[in-house]
Amino acid sequence: MTFTIAIDGPAAAGKGTLSRRIAEEYGFHHLDTGLTYRATAKALLDGGLPLDDEAVAEKVAREVELAGLDRSVLSAHAIGEAASKIAVMPAVRRALVEAQQAFSLREPGTVLDGRDIGTVVCPDAPVKLYVTASPEVRAQRRYDEITGNGQPADYQTIFEDVKKRDERDMGRADSPLRPADDAHLLDTSEMSIEAAFQAAKSLIDAAL
Ligand code: C5P
Repeated sequence: MTFTIAIDGPAAAGKGTLSRRIAEEYGFHHLDTGLTYRATAKALLDGGLPLDDEAVAEKVAREVELAGLDRSVLSAHAIGEAASKIAVMPAVRRALVEAQQAFSLREPGTVLDGRDIGTVVCPDAPVKLYVTASPEVRAQRRYDEITGNGQPADYQTIFEDVKKRDERDMGRADSPLRPADDAHLLDTSEMSIEAAFQAAKSLIDAAL
């Protein structure tokens, strides 16, 4: 029997780093489910296809290969925006959730991170974490990341984007972002990733 760890939370809360760290610690497979929405969006944009045609987007979603997902080619801001637009479509979500659920069964264990893992994709996961941080802290982290790479950035624009993305992800009708009833909350506003990792590790070790 495999062991699944479900990690949800808003954009830039630190769940990506935390998920990779956990997967490495336990030798589990990791899937960043945001990349499945981003890859679908990129294929639509690259193909000059509409972002508002559910049947077209579903077809593209069914062709996404989980093995080849790479954040470095999917990180563009425009791709993230397009991803959160197509993520409101039930047929797109159904297609990607099926692929994510198949991935979650891999042995010896899996870590999936996203927005609806604990609530929809893996509702029976034995460990569920909801990783969050204030919008100000998340915008600052994103700002530091961009400027750290030598790129120009404007804090206020990033802050507005973070709030807009939260509204879209939490306000949609199908699978809105929210903690599962049995999720453990990890607020990383004033916690280092290392401290969050140690807290997660205690919860996982107790459930293994
Ligand atoms: O996590 P990331 O920012 O890369 O995700 C891009 C977008 O994909 C999110 O804003 C969200 O709208 C959507 N998404 C989702 N469900 C997931 C993962 C991502 O709706 N499980």
